[in-house]
Amino acid sequence: MSCLGVIGGTGIDQWEGVDIVREHALDTPFGAPSRPVQEGQLHGETVFFLQRHGSPKAIPPHAINYRANIWALNALGVTDVIAVNAVGGISPNARAGVLVIPHQLIDYTWGRQHTFDMGESGSLQHIDFTWPFYPSLRARLCDAVDELQRECVTEGVYGVTQGPRLESAAEIRRMANDGCTVVGMTAMPEAALAAELGLHYASLCIVVNAAAGLSDEPLTLAAMRSTLAAAAVAVRDVLDKLVRSGQLT
Ligand code: HPA
Repeated sequence: MSCLGVIGGTGIDQWEGVDIVREHALDTPFGAPSRPVQEGQLHGETVFFLQRHGSPKAIPPHAINYRANIWALNALGVTDVIAVNAVGGISPNARAGVLVIPHQLIDYTWGRQHTFDMGESGSLQHIDFTWPFYPSLRARLCDAVDELQRECVTEGVYGVTQGPRLESAAEIRRMANDGCTVVGMTAMPEAALAAELGLHYASLCIVVNAAAGLSDEPLTLAAMRSTLAAAAVAVRDVLDKLVRSGQLT
C-alpha cells in the first residue's frame, strides 16, 4: 500500500483541500522536523504534509534539518514523497509560472548533513542514485499535469545551490553549460536521504523567476511570492488529481 507525503516549499504552507485530522510532533534520532507533520484525509486516502521551512519562522535552505524531515515521514508510514520546490528558470521554456517535473539533478550544495550513514552499520551504503527522482512516481505526476492540460516542462535538470543568497549571472551561465534547466536550493540532500530510506521521491517545481542574469527584472522576493501564489492553485490541482488516481507506485 502506498502512502503519499507532500513536502511544501516556499509559499506552500498547507496542502489545500486536505482535512487535517492530527498533527505529529515527532522527535527523531536527528532532532525535530521543521514543523509537526500534518496527517489528513483526501478522497478517502490518508496523506501527510510537512512544511520544509517550518512556520511561522522560516528556516533557510542550508539550515533545514533534512534528515529529521525525511526520517519523520518514513516513520509515519509515508512511501511516496512529492517535494514542492520554488525554483528559478534557466532554460528558455522554464518561464515564471510554469511547472517543471525534473528527471535529474546536479548537487552544488556543501556542508549539509547529507546522509543517514554514519558508518555504524559496518557496511558501505552506496545507494544507487542514477535516477534521483523515482521514475514511476514522476510519470504519475506528469499524467496528472497532462490531464489538467497545465503548461509544464516534464523533463529537466534541477541544479541545487547552497543559498541562501541567489546566484551570480556567471554561476547561472555555468549551470546552463552544465545542462541545468532550473535552479533551486532544497532538493538536496532531501532526494538522496529519501533514497537512502527507500522512499519514492519526485519533485514538482514552480518557476518563480528567471535565474540571475537572464532577465532585466530585479530579483525580488515580493515578485517571486506573487508568482508562487498564482501557481499554488495549480499545485493543489495536480496533487488532487494524483491522489484521485489511486495507488501510486
Ligand atoms: N535561485 C535559487 N533558488 C531559487 C531561485 C533562484 O533563482 N528562485 C527560487 N528559488
